[in-house]
Amino acid sequence: GADPDLVVVGSGFFGLTVAERAATELDKRVLVVERRSHLGGNAYSEPDPETGIEVHRYGAHLFHTSNTRVWEYVNRFTDFTGYQHRVFTIYEGRVYPMPVNLATICEYAGRAMSPDEARAWVAGHAAEIDVADAENFEDKGVALVGRPLYEAFFAGYTAKQWQTDPKDLPASIVSRLPVRYTFDNRYFSDTYEGLPVDGYTAWLERMADHPNIEVRVDTDWFDLRDQLPADVPTVYTGPLDRYFDFCEGELGWRTLDFESEVLTTTGDFQGTPVMNYADRDVPFTRIHEFRHFHPERTSYPKDKTVIVREYSRFAQHGDEPYYPINTAEDRAKLERYRELARKEATNRRVLFGGRLGTYKYLDMHMAIGSALTLFDNRIAPWFTEGTSFD
Ligand code: FDA
Repeated sequence: GADPDLVVVGSGFFGLTVAERAATELDKRVLVVERRSHLGGNAYSEPDPETGIEVHRYGAHLFHTSNTRVWEYVNRFTDFTGYQHRVFTIYEGRVYPMPVNLATICEYAGRAMSPDEARAWVAGHAAEIDVADAENFEDKGVALVGRPLYEAFFAGYTAKQWQTDPKDLPASIVSRLPVRYTFDNRYFSDTYEGLPVDGYTAWLERMADHPNIEVRVDTDWFDLRDQLPADVPTVYTGPLDRYFDFCEGELGWRTLDFESEVLTTTGDFQGTPVMNYADRDVPFTRIHEFRHFHPERTSYPKDKTVIVREYSRFAQHGDEPYYPINTAEDRAKLERYRELARKEATNRRVLFGGRLGTYKYLDMHMAIGSALTLFDNRIAPWFTEGTSFD
């Protein structure tokens, strides 16, 4: 077709928000280029072929926000269920509610405690180490919540997440460990929370469903860019280091491995969406059972269920980058890449955004919120007022 007015690299929430705004608000033709075989980025979900249960392919995605503008925007594309996220953990053969709260502490200690009693109990154990003297993650954890809670609920999980003994992790990666002295066990405390009624992919497809938007899947932008007009403005949401051919070195990420299994021996494996495994000798960090994200769906089979075990490790070249590691070395590289990115905006009208393009963990509502801001502050003024792109 005709040349696009705007190219968006990546069809995750960031890219689709920019594309949707430019198409709807400015009537611009937008070409969205996506390397994977489907749109949606990491929020993509699909029905498991055997059971029809919706599975989030790149890890469980729970939508929550306190940003009213984002909430109103996303409600144009989907309705939400009343789902409220809650997590439990197994440690040494017993189950506890997460994040650590008064019920967790009472259960662990084996007796009823008031909030004040629980605070005193934790403070007594935490007195073992002064926070100021903590030299590694373990010391800091013990200084913050005391050895019993640290060992049960943070040590094993952290060791598995980082594949490193917490004694060998810097104290600086932890500033606080969440402990609530109430029986509130809701995972998120945001104003709005829920899951898209007919799934993430339906939501993401509705964002792209506009006559001005073309999504080209199975296409790596690096293979296509030479065929696009040289001066077309571009929003790049792929990995920042890859854009610059890794000239400052690779940025460090953690990745996850997912092991999915359809059980035909039971329709309910664990009675809850997410069970964490805190013991060090269990190799996975958690199990998701996807049917429980949609208890309202009557179409799910009663005699089968889908579970996904999650394993965490450092990403190698070619792995999916999931969580920025953010070592001091990473931050130094990031500064240099950011400098290059600023020049790229001036010289080639390329803006960088999203999780990969900024090397920042972003929840969905943050990715959408920052895309709306980029659109308002940079893209719309450039198109409508001819302001400079950078
Ligand atoms: P995203 O990664 O989604 O999209 C980028 C897209 O660009 C990808 O589709 C990629 O294939 C494409 N791309 C990259 N390079 C390209 C190239 N050269 N050419 C073409 N395409 C290219 N958030 C939340 O709110 N609640 C939650 O529960 C979770 N849970 C969660 C679990 C896990 C395991 C992760 C990793 C993340 C979450 N998130 C989350 C965060 C959520 O996934 C995140 O906010 C969005 O994916 C961000 O959208 P982006 O568009 O920035 O990136």
